[in-house]
Amino acid sequence: MTTDILTHTENGVTTLTLNRVDKKNSITAAMYAQMADALADAAGNADVRVVVIQGDVAVFSAGNDIGDFLNNPPAGDGSPVFRFLHGIAAFPKPIVAAVCGPAVGIGTTMLLHCDLVYAGDNAAFSVPFVNLGLCPEAASSLLIPQMFGYHRAAEALLLGEPFMAEAALEVGLVNRVLPPTEVNGYAQTQARKLAAKPISSLIETKRLMKKGQAATIAQVMTEEGASFGRMLREPAAREAFGAFMERRKPDFSKL
Ligand code: COA
Repeated sequence: MTTDILTHTENGVTTLTLNRVDKKNSITAAMYAQMADALADAAGNADVRVVVIQGDVAVFSAGNDIGDFLNNPPAGDGSPVFRFLHGIAAFPKPIVAAVCGPAVGIGTTMLLHCDLVYAGDNAAFSVPFVNLGLCPEAASSLLIPQMFGYHRAAEALLLGEPFMAEAALEVGLVNRVLPPTEVNGYAQTQARKLAAKPISSLIETKRLMKKGQAATIAQVMTEEGASFGRMLREPAAREAFGAFMERRKPDFSKL
């Protein structure tokens, strides 16, 4: 058990805190495994009615740990990252996210599977998969165009540049923008409101809202995962990861 993910349950709310701030809350295989296990426990535990996912006031998550991408790339649907993604996508109870600072890659795409998202005005979302020689994951190739509209999705996914909290509010990725120091507290307030409601109604309402494309999301995730897994091992991604580690600009001119 790592302390890089903190889990706390109180008054029907389980809070998962990304706690690897010195590495900008980048997520390792062990952290995905812990989050996947925590979600599975929360789904089956009658004492848990709502889950909150939060980071630090200065950073939500820098996405997948790049060292892991290089040395321990995920292999197949049973890997911790896919267990986490399938777990969050199919999670039956409400999930509230609190996001401040950078939310890179899966730091943004996991939010597509949360029900309420609150952001600090310092939040910077990005899905720079192309810049890393990769392709979208977490069904973001389906859900971002649906949510943002195609052209704004293309800007986010093809250019991979960060967009700030107000832009995320405009496209519907976040519910409300707050001062960073208020975000975690506000997410808890909203989670407690949800936890006071009848759980059967929450679960059935979420199921009905999601059922139209639950199967498609799972299928898209599997297809993205196959491409992502292959591309992780290809020269463009190796160049991008090597450049990040060596703190230089990647050179894709021959790729
Ligand atoms: N994987 C592994 N380590 C990471 C990381 C990642 N995704 N993101 C940041 N870190 C580490 C850095 O290597 C550095 O470690 P060090 O102190 O041992 O050198 C530390 O976290 C601080 O990062 P730094 O880049 O100096 O912080 P910053 O405030 O200048 O920038 C980010 C923050 C998030 C904008 C920047 O770290 C970043 O772009 N990270 C990579 C994001 C990415 O491409 N993720 C993959 C998405 S699929």
